[in-house]
Amino acid sequence: MEKILVTGATGKLGTEVVNLLLKKTDPKNISVLVRDTTKAVDFKKAGITIQQGDYGKYNSLLNAFKGIDKLYFISTNAMTDREIQHENVVKAAVEDKVKNIIYTSFQRKNDLENSPISFLTKAHVYTEKLIKESGIAYTILKHGLYTDFLPVLLGNLFFETGSIYLPAGNNKVAFTLRSDLAEGAVEILTSKGHENKTYNFVADKLYNFYDIAIILSQLTGKNITYISPSNEEYKSTLLKAGVPEAYVNMFAGCSEGIRQNEFDFCDKTLSKLLKRECTDIEKYLREVYIK
Ligand SMILES: NC(=O)c1ccc[n+]([C@@H]2O[C@H](COP(=O)([O-])OP(=O)(O)OC[C@H]3O[C@@H](n4cnc5c(N)ncnc54)[C@H](OP(=O)(O)O)[C@@H]3O)[C@@H](O)[C@H]2O)c1
Repeated sequence: MEKILVTGATGKLGTEVVNLLLKKTDPKNISVLVRDTTKAVDFKKAGITIQQGDYGKYNSLLNAFKGIDKLYFISTNAMTDREIQHENVVKAAVEDKVKNIIYTSFQRKNDLENSPISFLTKAHVYTEKLIKESGIAYTILKHGLYTDFLPVLLGNLFFETGSIYLPAGNNKVAFTLRSDLAEGAVEILTSKGHENKTYNFVADKLYNFYDIAIILSQLTGKNITYISPSNEEYKSTLLKAGVPEAYVNMFAGCSEGIRQNEFDFCDKTLSKLLKRECTDIEKYLREVYIK
């Protein structure tokens, strides 16, 4: 049986992947790379091999990937030094003779530096290149924008004001649920035929914020509308309201990407792997907002 190692295993996506893997394969075949072993106590109890390591420290990664057939490489959540961290992971994978890398990348329309979402995609473009040049067989999973990110983007104010306030225009997004991505990844990790492929790992339906306002109106019984201000007005409103600048820039940057149609394509690859439709956004919003 193939040996699988999951990095970022104590994060949200990684935890879901490991728990699903446990249902499909013997824990003896599963290893995890974690920064903090105290967060991996349950995995240890389940019989999973724990490797301690940090993407930022190359020496801590060396030997961690020895004997691994499939490395499920979760991209860092850091916003700085992303390229260096990922470089270390790929270098260690080469050194340890990993056979396959399955990398969680990001949906995009182009790889150019002037892309409105290059602040998110630049490190992914770089990492994909490194992986392809490494000689290791790869599967690149270009994840859609998480549906799970929606409550953060929407905030809670729309309940009071009756309006979603976001500078995303009327453009559509293939919002993709993290647990669907985890389930799809496990299908890939436990089957063959995905070597040297790049998949748009995104949902099979598109929504804009007018659609989301209608869904939220139906779910809550309130009249919720959608207002799309200019990016500048949005940023200054949030900054005046005391939202930290890093968050403002992240929300405004993602919204600008949506406004410029960076996320307006869906794909059937994920739903085919799941053997069902991707999770409906309405189902997700119902679970979050309707107790
Ligand atoms: N598609 C989207 O919309 C979207 C949205 C958000 C994030 N993402 C990307 O998808 C990834 C997975 O998402 P998620 O929700 O699972 O994020 P998450 O819960 O923040 O998990 C990130 C994982 O990466 C690990 N990690 C971060 N830096 C590391 C380092 N230097 N060395 C080793 N491990 C490190 C974290 O370790 P600890 O457990 O020790 O913190 C954590 O386990 C994120 O890291 C990010 O790159 C995508």
